[in-house]
Amino acid sequence: MIKQKQNKGFTSKFGFLMATVGSAVGLGNLWSFPYRVGEGGGAAFVFIYIIMVCLVGVIAMIGEFVIGKRSGVNVIDTFGGISKWSKWLGYLGVIVPFLILCYYQVIGGWSIKYMVDYIGGIGVASGEGNVGSMFGTFTQSVDMPVVYLFVFAFVVAIIVLFGVNKGIEKASKILMPALFVCLIIVVIKSLTLPNASEGLLFLFKPDFSKVKGPTILSALGQVFFSMSLGMGINVAYGSYMKDSMNIGKSSVLIGVMDTVIAMLAGMAIFPAVFSFGLEPTAGPGLLFVVLAEVFASMGAIVGRIFGAIFFMLVILAAITSSIALLEVPVQFIVERFHINRKLASMCVAGIVFGIGAFIAMSFGVKAFQVEGVDLLTLFDSITNKIILPITAASTCLLVGYKVKPKNLMNDLGADKKNKVIIYKIWGFLIRYVTPIGILCVLGIGIYEIFSGEAGFTTIEGKLAIILTAIVLVVFSIIANVIANYLYDKKQKNSLQL
Ligand code: PFF
Repeated sequence: MIKQKQNKGFTSKFGFLMATVGSAVGLGNLWSFPYRVGEGGGAAFVFIYIIMVCLVGVIAMIGEFVIGKRSGVNVIDTFGGISKWSKWLGYLGVIVPFLILCYYQVIGGWSIKYMVDYIGGIGVASGEGNVGSMFGTFTQSVDMPVVYLFVFAFVVAIIVLFGVNKGIEKASKILMPALFVCLIIVVIKSLTLPNASEGLLFLFKPDFSKVKGPTILSALGQVFFSMSLGMGINVAYGSYMKDSMNIGKSSVLIGVMDTVIAMLAGMAIFPAVFSFGLEPTAGPGLLFVVLAEVFASMGAIVGRIFGAIFFMLVILAAITSSIALLEVPVQFIVERFHINRKLASMCVAGIVFGIGAFIAMSFGVKAFQVEGVDLLTLFDSITNKIILPITAASTCLLVGYKVKPKNLMNDLGADKKNKVIIYKIWGFLIRYVTPIGILCVLGIGIYEIFSGEAGFTTIEGKLAIILTAIVLVVFSIIANVIANYLYDKKQKNSLQL
């Protein structure tokens, strides 16, 4: 069943790198990394985060690229090729990016609204009213969040529709450097504000007394989300890699670039936050509320210019991540059902938009909420707190035990004398350290759900998250059993690992 690599993938190393870094760099870097740094005590969190990137992030990423590159096909067939009992991971590997995309694009839409406001000098950039309450008023309205979501989703669908090299690769080669330039401009502005050094100290001078167990797990969870691990993305992008592309070097480079951009986002945000005497521990509101206050305090024209550049940056980051999320289900549908890519992209994007519209409206429309909580929180909890750790830990175990040392070393391009030691370190980390760490993230996720920290305070709400996640996992396992029974009875494990 596993086919040979088809000639439809990335055409250059630079293009591959920009697309994979583009998938990694997203709202996770610009939105959740800074607020988690704020909540987790600044530099101490950053320090732990960097260790986790090396010990867990890069190791898991290598594993995902290896299976994707060796199969050359979509996520479900890749996992099906490893063992007839690992297809369920493939099903989840397609369902999870689909679900994440549904709410991720809503935030992309909000960012468009902010950029438009700053460009036009209207809304949050009008200089009138309280920007904090404006965010609430906007997200709770029913019409405009859906309109902006549509614009965002449309752009993403168009890029994916053109395919991997003409769409994703080409777009990433332009969007990622543009993102970098925007980020540097905002960092320079932020660093030249009065008292900027306080923000830098917060980011770079660790206070380990603030580090507690949950801080470490929060850093680990952030690494997974930020490096797009456990969601089929790197398997799908790995399947489009050319033979000449080196998995080891690429994974390290992606880990480094993702972390550097997250740090630059911190350097853009914290000096400004401290300079204007605002709260670094503002949580998720840091991006849309605290920063809007920062831009408002910069004065009409300057604030508008930097606000527009900053939200342009957020949009670029969210687009390149969203194209990766959309590509996973589209690749599967195109390959499995032999449907034209344009049609497949539009259909999946249309369904995602439909679900996303309910999510966008759920902030203001009680009927679309679950136990009084918006759907974005529900979708985020189901995917990130439960399913993602399950798929990520299972993938690490599967890859760790299945990939032969010789093949891994070939894929990593390691030289002879380092081969044994590299494999031993990688094998130890991916079989033991990474899965145990991820299972702790699952544990804390479940704890947060039951303690009410995840946003749901009623037992019905908490059960809604847990049961939906269980249903999805059970559904994927049943689908695996049915697939084996119906058409894969004699299937041999066809993927050479
Ligand atoms: N890594 C992205 C971020 O940091 O925002 C989020 C993401 C993108 C997760 C793509 C998963 C994914 F497949």
